[in-house]
Amino acid sequence: MMHQTSILYLVLFQGTIIFSQPCQLLMTDAAGGRWQLLQKSIGISSMHMQLLNNDRVIMFDRTDFGKSNISLPHGKCRNNTYEKALKVDCTAHSIEYNVLSNKFRPLTVHTDTWCSSGTVMPNGTLIQTGGNKNGGRVIRIIKPCSDGKCDWVEVKNVLEMKRWYATNHILLDGRQIVIGGRNQFNYEFLPKKKGAPNLYSLPFLNETRDSSYIENNLYPFVFLNGDGNLFIFANNRAICSTIRKARWSRSTRRCQVANRGAFQAPALQCCCH
Ligand SMILES: *[C@@H]1O[C@H](CO)[C@@H](O)[C@H](O)[C@H]1NC(C)=O
Ligand SMILES: *[C@@H]1O[C@H](CO)[C@@H](O)[C@H](O)[C@H]1NC(C)=O
Ligand SMILES: *[C@@H]1O[C@H](CO)[C@@H](O)[C@H](O)[C@H]1NC(C)=O
Ligand SMILES: *[C@@H]1O[C@H](CO)[C@@H](O)[C@H](O)[C@H]1NC(C)=O
Repeated sequence: MMHQTSILYLVLFQGTIIFSQPCQLLMTDAAGGRWQLLQKSIGISSMHMQLLNNDRVIMFDRTDFGKSNISLPHGKCRNNTYEKALKVDCTAHSIEYNVLSNKFRPLTVHTDTWCSSGTVMPNGTLIQTGGNKNGGRVIRIIKPCSDGKCDWVEVKNVLEMKRWYATNHILLDGRQIVIGGRNQFNYEFLPKKKGAPNLYSLPFLNETRDSSYIENNLYPFVFLNGDGNLFIFANNRAICSTIRKARWSRSTRRCQVANRGAFQAPALQCCCH
């Protein structure tokens, strides 16, 4: 009922505005909001963040940069003899922020999330992958909760390769694809399927890296088109393909971009027909 009312409202009122008013008026309307400082400090810098389906935002930072300004829950400490900045660290590098109550609580991350990646699964669980050094092959799982009890669960050596600056995307079959990362010209899927290969090569990521010193294709831009094709844009080129049976289809098409560095939007033409 709510839904129908909203659509009716959109058609009757917004439709009238959209068709009868110039764009500036709409934008002026939207600009009525203002910034408000909600917390002077949340204890960490949020290098990464993800909104969950229960209005909680999971934020996290790298772990190798010394103390944060918030303690780990239950007086716990993290011991890592390989850590250069701090071998025993009793501070948290991740928090859960509750949008409604404007409160936050510390979460426990043991491995380095610096330039990691991740995506939310269809059931609302955030699966976050990779990072630097001890975080390279780790996956970190957090399920949304409202009782303040959920925390990260880290599982080591799940990723086939170390992934630092990779990109993840949810697929139509509900799994996620994890693409690239430094010196990784390949991709893999999560969760893993028994009997299926763990790794698939993607030479495109080698071809679009200008040299081992000029890694200008990290964190490739990945979009799932409405037709199921996955579109990857890295450096100055793009490819697009359906992923059939977890393989990059042979009909992978290349979307050439004319000028180096200047993306001239041929992608949709190339990929959607
Ligand atoms: C760190 O926490 C203290 C005490 O809670 C607070 O006074 C201070 O402003 C915080 N500093 C930063 C940089 O977050
Ligand atoms: C970490 O080290 C501290 C100090 O050495 C010790 O008190 C604590 O029990 C250790 N924690 C773990 C989880 O090993
Ligand atoms: C959601 O699915 C993931 C795997 O895709 C699983 O690890 C997780 O436990 C599931 N979460 C819930 C709340 O069922
Ligand atoms: C990447 O491309 C370079 C240059 O074409 C080639 O020499 C090298 O073998 C390739 N590396 C991989 C892992 O495919």
